Amino acid sequence: MKLTAEALQQALLNTADQIEQQKDELTDLDREIGDGDHGINMSRGFQALKKELQGKDPFEDLGELSKLVGMTLIKTVGGASGPLFGTVFVKFASKWNGKEAVEGDQLYDGFREAVEGVAARGKSQTGQKTMLDVWEPFTEALMGAEPLETVIENALADTKELKATKGRASYFGDATKGVQDPGALSSSILLRQIAEVLNG
Ligand SMILES: Nc1ncnc2c1ncn2[C@@H]1O[C@H](COP(=O)(O)OP(=O)(O)OP(=O)(O)O)[C@@H](O)[C@H]1O
Ligand SMILES: [Mg+2]
Repeated sequence: MKLTAEALQQALLNTADQIEQQKDELTDLDREIGDGDHGINMSRGFQALKKELQGKDPFEDLGELSKLVGMTLIKTVGGASGPLFGTVFVKFASKWNGKEAVEGDQLYDGFREAVEGVAARGKSQTGQKTMLDVWEPFTEALMGAEPLETVIENALADTKELKATKGRASYFGDATKGVQDPGALSSSILLRQIAEVLNG
């Protein structure tokens, strides 16, 4: 599995389109166990990102691309999730600066740094029914043999059954069991697109 700057750029453009398709679904979930803005937040952020990326030549540096993505998402997504998604890409940039492509340990190290960055920024850990419950197993799967698509499916299914103990959703207590976490779903949308370019 290899990630090039060009492939990541394509995955992000695909994500922007997929977020539009699932915008209402994301917002409906956040209406059930949050404040009903997650689809709106993600759509605003990824449409801004799409505009930003479409105006640029194809990137040749994963670090440069990741930095721009991180900054754009931090500026435009908002809510609790904006800084967290932004952190993912800022951390990618810190590991992949000056690289046109990464694979193996370098690919894993970027994701590991991102997951730890989200946990530190969100003061959260896995098992609390957040986006981390998708990012963490995906990251570990980069070193394993299981298809990434399957890993994402299973992570989503497991996260759905958890009780939220972090963020706004935690106010809903037991009512969160059986409802998908909106940030886990939006993360799966992004990670599926990344998995696709990694496999392709
Ligand atoms: N501390 C955290 N650690 C990891 N993920 C978190 C944390 N807090 C929220 N999330 C993720 O963010 C998602 C909610 O994002 P959203 O954009 O709706 O922000 P929000 O909770 O409405 O923020 P705010 O309360 O600031 O308006 C959750 O579904 C969860 O996956
Ligand atoms: Mg919300």
